[in-house]
Amino acid sequence: MNKFVKKDQKIGEIAAKFPKSINIFMEYEIDFCCGGDRPLAEAIKEKDLNEEELLNRLNNEYEEFKSEMNKGIDWNKESNTKMIDYIVNKHHAFLKEELPVTEKLVSKILKVHYISHGDVLVQLHKLFNQLKTELEGHLIKEEEILFPLIKEYEKNPSEEIRKRALKVLDETESEHDEAGDIIKEIRRLTDGFKVPDDGCSTYELTYEKIEAIERDLFQHIHLENNILFPRLK
Ligand SMILES: [Fe+2]
Ligand SMILES: [Fe+2]
Repeated sequence: MNKFVKKDQKIGEIAAKFPKSINIFMEYEIDFCCGGDRPLAEAIKEKDLNEEELLNRLNNEYEEFKSEMNKGIDWNKESNTKMIDYIVNKHHAFLKEELPVTEKLVSKILKVHYISHGDVLVQLHKLFNQLKTELEGHLIKEEEILFPLIKEYEKNPSEEIRKRALKVLDETESEHDEAGDIIKEIRRLTDGFKVPDDGCSTYELTYEKIEAIERDLFQHIHLENNILFPRLK
């Protein structure tokens, strides 16, 4: 996924693009109006800020802002092809970027907090890896088999193509249920992503990322299960 906010961007440009960045700039005491005409990296350096943390927060906010905007799209009026392209570019790209990064974080906190929180973290490590493996296979199946069939069906709505698509679609729907069950189990295990009092900032970041994956996954599955797939049934 292409991150929207990069450190070489001008602060004023970021502030103009999405309103909530202003709150973050204020919290970090970054001048976004008079000092807006300079790259974010300059302010980070000047104030000796944690660059990764700030960029993550800005990008997470931007993603939220974008999904708010997307709620305005009436997908019922859009073509299958447009929907598929949107799903692949937004939701599949997000998972391809976030799953490997988050997996590394999960392994890291398992090692660092093994003594005090091994009971939860060993399970989390197992569940997250299971989720990652299943989703990665699932995305490939959709991109290589199911989505091309749905696009083909849109151009040539024959019964033969529809039947082929429905067969794969049955499998992908069960995979959605499986992924949903794993993420719900992770939520239960972590008591709603509650970071223990002695958890470090990496612990916090890991839980934030898994929660963002959960949020994105639910929107993603909603588009496929509730809008795209019923068109073939
Ligand atoms: Fe998908
Ligand atoms: Fe899917």
